[in-house]
Amino acid sequence: MRAIEFFGRIATMLTMDFGGIHTVAKLDCLRRCLDAFASALGGRKPRLKYIDPFAGCGVWSPKQHKRPGGFFPSPTLEFEGSARIALNFKFDEFLFADKDRSSVDKLNGLRAQFPERRIQIAKAKADGFLREICEATNWEKWRGFVFLDPFGLPPRWRTMRAIARTRAIDFLLLLPPGINRLLTRNGKTTPANKALDRFCPSLGDACYREYEEGGLLQPQAVCMKVAKPHDVANYYGTQLRTVFRYIVQAPLPLNIVGATYYLWGGVGDNNGAAERLEIMQRIFSDREIRWRAKQHYRSTQRP
Ligand SMILES: C[S@@+](CC[C@H](N)C(=O)[O-])C[C@H]1O[C@@H](n2cnc3c(N)ncnc32)[C@H](O)[C@@H]1O
Repeated sequence: MRAIEFFGRIATMLTMDFGGIHTVAKLDCLRRCLDAFASALGGRKPRLKYIDPFAGCGVWSPKQHKRPGGFFPSPTLEFEGSARIALNFKFDEFLFADKDRSSVDKLNGLRAQFPERRIQIAKAKADGFLREICEATNWEKWRGFVFLDPFGLPPRWRTMRAIARTRAIDFLLLLPPGINRLLTRNGKTTPANKALDRFCPSLGDACYREYEEGGLLQPQAVCMKVAKPHDVANYYGTQLRTVFRYIVQAPLPLNIVGATYYLWGGVGDNNGAAERLEIMQRIFSDREIRWRAKQHYRSTQRP
């Protein structure tokens, strides 16, 4: 491999490569929620933290813009990722984490461009990072906005409970399809399904139906998964409502080829929560975001 091609590929790998229309839609939603959050709470006494425990590297590139071959690597288009978007808003503190060293190095580069901002960056696992912040912060003095944007599985349920307990955090959570994929077809008591309780309590009970098969003489109990991805996402929302008082009415489905992610949102149970939820709800109901999401959603639905 020619040296220039090799370094081009390395440069490409160092740029987050997860983008598509769903990325545009989720970040659009984030930008608008942050705008609403900062306008509703900025300049008042509680100070504001932005917390991004799956921060990535600050930028993302659409996949289709990378063309292999050619002597020079093709120019990579870069767009603002969640961490960079948040820096457009006046938070008193920014807390970024990623488990990946190269993302953390890039975030450190981003911090150097904003010397006037108070930015903390950690190479850490999201759950522990977030729970520590929830527990160590005096939430009488602070309000927070958390963007939860994992790849595979959602945060642990105890992390979601820790966020809810603060009553001071508004959040967006992109529920990834991993939780649905782990539900095996025909057995709600398999170890994989039991493990899912750590991410969403009693998910197995909601996703299976038991019935008898084999006629009158030798009936056999059969257990089948009946939940579709959107049922799983809706059930996740039902569970969210057991710990958060203010959650959007329905998730925003965002499709990637062959899988659907569901964006959920909620606000902390404090002064002005109902108004902030109403604004968030309006953002979720926006026809343009929904139109893009729906086009993809429909294209992957089986009849
Ligand atoms: C979808 S990307 C985040 C993109 C980012 N929000 C943006 O808009 O630019 C998910 C990121 O989470 C990181 N990640 C995955 N699992 C993690 C975990 N358990 N703890 C911390 N980071 C994690 C990955 O390294 C990746 O950078």
